[in-house]
Amino acid sequence: MAFYGDKIFPRVMNRLMDNKNNREIRARVCRDLAGDVVEIGFGTGLNLPHFPAGVTRLQAVEPSKLCIRLAAQRIDAAAVPVRVAGTDGQFLPFADESADAVLSTWSLCTIPDAVAALHEVRRILRPGGSLHFVEHGAATDEAVRRWQDRLNPIQRRIACGCNLNRDIPALIEEGGLRISRLDTYYARGEPKSFAATYEGVATAA
Ligand SMILES: C[S@@+](CC[C@H](N)C(=O)[O-])C[C@H]1O[C@@H](n2cnc3c(N)ncnc32)[C@H](O)[C@@H]1O
Repeated sequence: MAFYGDKIFPRVMNRLMDNKNNREIRARVCRDLAGDVVEIGFGTGLNLPHFPAGVTRLQAVEPSKLCIRLAAQRIDAAAVPVRVAGTDGQFLPFADESADAVLSTWSLCTIPDAVAALHEVRRILRPGGSLHFVEHGAATDEAVRRWQDRLNPIQRRIACGCNLNRDIPALIEEGGLRISRLDTYYARGEPKSFAATYEGVATAA
């Protein structure tokens, strides 16, 4: 399983996560980022082309060495300086109140203790700073949620710890953040169990 997780899955993710629909979503989620930004679950750098000019630096947090290697060209081409600064969203290597914004795109499904990571996000955000997120998670429809619960053990295995059924808004609030904008929808072109999406902004509560 380690071989699959280390050597295969990052390549699959790099392909699957880079599609037209996701690019549109990434552009929306990144649109209002500014200043010193931290990204948790940086992956292969697929958000980099969407960073607006107001971003002065990106500090990336990502455990997969292969993801960072696959991101190399995007990092070189990025309009903002990128520093790979950490490997675990649950223990962010940044001072309190040091980031203007944090970005998380489809990462809270996978970080083992998402609430611990969100407490860290809250700790490092400057007063007035914000978490910009898009995540898939537990659907609001009961029937879809039942399917998500059934499929979750398989999903966790084939997608390296990714959960289909996390209650994303509840986790964000539990992490000490207050959601100031939230769009809830099914992403186009995917089965509903995988497509239940939460997109928005949260600030320190
Ligand atoms: C579904 S991928 C999303 C990647 C990227 N955010 C994107 O939008 O393409 C989930 C990412 O979370 C990362 N991840 C897993 N555990 C993590 C942790 N403890 N801290 C930070 N990131 C983690 C994975 O390595 C993977 O890159």
